[in-house]
Amino acid sequence: MSTPATVILGTGSYAPDRVLTNEDLSKMVDTSDEWIRARSGIRERRIAAADQATSDLAVQASLRALEASGVPASEIDLVVVATVTPDYPMPSTACIVQHKLGVPTSAACFDVNAACSGFIYALDTACALVSSGRYRRALVVGAEKLSSVVDWQDRGTCMLFGDGAGAVVVGPGTTPGLGLIGTKLGALGEDTDLLYIPGGGSRLPTSAESIARGDQFIKMKGKEVFKLAVRVMEEAARDILEQHGFQAHQIDLVIPHQANLRIIDAIAQYLELPVERFFVNVDRYGNTSAASIPIALDEARRSGRIKAGDLTLLVAFGAGLTYGSALIRW
Ligand code: COA
Repeated sequence: MSTPATVILGTGSYAPDRVLTNEDLSKMVDTSDEWIRARSGIRERRIAAADQATSDLAVQASLRALEASGVPASEIDLVVVATVTPDYPMPSTACIVQHKLGVPTSAACFDVNAACSGFIYALDTACALVSSGRYRRALVVGAEKLSSVVDWQDRGTCMLFGDGAGAVVVGPGTTPGLGLIGTKLGALGEDTDLLYIPGGGSRLPTSAESIARGDQFIKMKGKEVFKLAVRVMEEAARDILEQHGFQAHQIDLVIPHQANLRIIDAIAQYLELPVERFFVNVDRYGNTSAASIPIALDEARRSGRIKAGDLTLLVAFGAGLTYGSALIRW
């Protein structure tokens, strides 16, 4: 009999109140609701308030996940936050979240940067640490304030991204066959410049010149990213299914990274699955990077789209370029 896998004990998510519609965007750049919906499926996205940082979004999602799991903050011994928009370059956002939640000072706290695959990377890391017995209760968060790194004058990128956070509490399982069945992570490091923020790091430290050039904003080669996203997510999905002896049709719900409805449609077609088998909320949030999968997971759980015994596939792709997939039996 196989040993029990780690399990997700509860989920939570949070999106800031302010809604920025395509119509609003069309007053800021030369675009239209029709163009954005046709190319991406996005109708609106949430934008954090000026005084809200990524940790503030993360804390709201975490409180909901803690409540859903019945695990008090005092029992959390590991906090992993996936983000590309940390409150500060240093220290990690996980330490700020720890303090705001009242997680004990004996907890290990760190951030993971794997962009839009960040939540699956963080989940895999936390589950490995929990299954090793070193930690018992992990809080895993994906949180982003992408509005702080979007160039609001670049119509090719600004319509895609939004702010939000999702979180899960992870613990050791008790029932063999239930929980995280497996994960597959990887990266295509040669394609870094297809999607990146050039400035503010050690290669191009912030300067008056770098700011004047707009190096602090997301740069993306949309068409290339689109093609790779479809190919790599399909492969990541197929690989993990094969690795664990499943067929695509056995998946009850796919929770893909919410980047673009056309990417999701293409993956559904390649996997020969009806698109109804995919959870979609990109229309309401746009691409929230590391937050996209945990927000979708939480909405799927709370709306009854995931039931006991269901098999769920998470699959993501992001800057790095990174990719990841995970299979969960509930
Ligand atoms: N409104 C109106 N026109 C726009 C526009 C906008 N918001 N953004 C770009 N355009 C224009 C372009 O300037 C271009 O015009 P041109 O032909 O005169 O040069 C035209 O529309 C086509 O642009 P293109 O970039 O070829 O469109 P596309 O079909 O590739 O769609 C994306 C653009 C960004 C929607 C698409 O490439 C995409 O979704 N890529 C993947 C992005 C992604 O998921 N990133 C995150 C991965 S985690």
